[in-house]
Formats: sequence, structure tokens, C-alpha cells
Amino acid sequence: MPQNPSIFQPNLRRFIPHKFRSNGKSRLNSALLCATARLAPKDISIQVFQGIGDLPLFNPDIEFTDPAPVVKFRAQVIAADALIIASPEYAHGVTGVLKNALDWLVGSEAFVNKPIALFNASPSSVYAPAALKEIVRVMSARVVDEASIDLPIRGAKLDEDGIYEDVKMSAAIRTALQALTDGVLLESGLDGLK
Ligand SMILES: Cc1cc2nc3c(=O)[nH]c(=O)nc-3n(C[C@H](O)[C@H](O)[C@H](O)COP(=O)(O)O)c2cc1C
Repeated sequence: MPQNPSIFQPNLRRFIPHKFRSNGKSRLNSALLCATARLAPKDISIQVFQGIGDLPLFNPDIEFTDPAPVVKFRAQVIAADALIIASPEYAHGVTGVLKNALDWLVGSEAFVNKPIALFNASPSSVYAPAALKEIVRVMSARVVDEASIDLPIRGAKLDEDGIYEDVKMSAAIRTALQALTDGVLLESGLDGLK
């Protein structure tokens, strides 16, 4: 336990949600994460990582050659106190781009005990969220169920501003962020200091 935990608390409130997309033409999931970043309290810093489409295809033969995009990606994941992942479902599975990004982290400690919230923007997506939960679980992350939410953004056809302004959705996102914060404090052993 640190002598002066208040010194450490600001760091505990840095979240990096990951925009797991293959290119810059994202819509729902990108909008959800960007709106989430805007809805975060001032003491929580959220960075939306847009670069997983730049990662090379994972191959164990080059795993330890440290390609530059991988080094940047891994460093940001390790630096984050928690992650939020939002991803489309493709053919009842996680997207290839997301799985590729996760495979780059399997051999590292990046996910070990990392609090993670899984955001799902489409009510019709049920297989990919379940598969994703199992993947990050086996990577030793801590999925925070209370912070993992399903939002009917696909049906509502909302953009970033629409999500931000929607009373129910913004409230659900704020509640999820609080639950994720609690998950970070719990993981850090600082939950008794709230
Ligand atoms: C190749 C492909 C496969 C898809 N497969 C599914 C699917 O199995 N289940 C589902 O609910 N939606 C499926 N979708 C729809 C996407 O998951 C949905 O449009 C998602 O919201 C797109 O997210 P984005 O706007 O962030 O790209 C698929 C879309 C594409 C392009």
C-alpha cells in the first residue's frame, strides 16, 4: 500500500479505450468510444487508439522483432490502467483485425490483471462479445462485468453526437465508467480509500 495513495490515484484514472477497427471508415464502434471519451469525468483521461489497422499480421516468427506499430500499441496498452474494447461482430466472430491485435499481446504481460470493459454497440451481436470475453479472460485480463454494456446504437443509428446527447445511453456509459474505475481501484487494492 503506498504511503500517500493520493499521489497514485490520478494515474489509476487513465483509461485507454481501444477502437479496434481496420481502417478510418469506422462508424458505430468508433462513435461509441469517442462519445465515451467525451463523457468521462475530468479526472479520467481516455485515449482512443486508432492504430490497430497498422499492425502487421501476427506471426510467431517475427513476434520478438518488435515492429514499430506493435511496440507503440503494446506500450499504450501496458500504460493504461484499464481498457474499453468495442468491436463489430463479423460472421459471428471477432473481427480479424481485433484478433490480430490481441494475438500480438498474448506473449506479453499486457493484459495480466488489466481491468477491461467490453462495449457492444449492436444488439444482434452475441457471438463475438462472448468470444471476446473468453479471449481476454484466457489472456488473464479482468473483465469488469458491471462496466460491460450493450447499447442499441446500431438500431438507433446514432453518431457520436447522438450518443453523447442521448440521455439513456450517456447515463449507461457514465455508470460503466464508474464501474470500471471501481474495478481499477479494486485491482490496485485502493478500493477502501474511496
Ligand atoms: C463482413 C461483415 C460480417 C458481419 N457479420 C455480422 C454478424 O455475424 N452478426 C451481426 O450482428 N452483425 C454482423 N455484421 C454487421 C456489423 O457487425 C455491424 O454493422 C457493426 O455495427 C459495424 O460496426 P462499425 O460501424 O463500427 O464498423 C457484419 C458486417 C460485416 C461487414
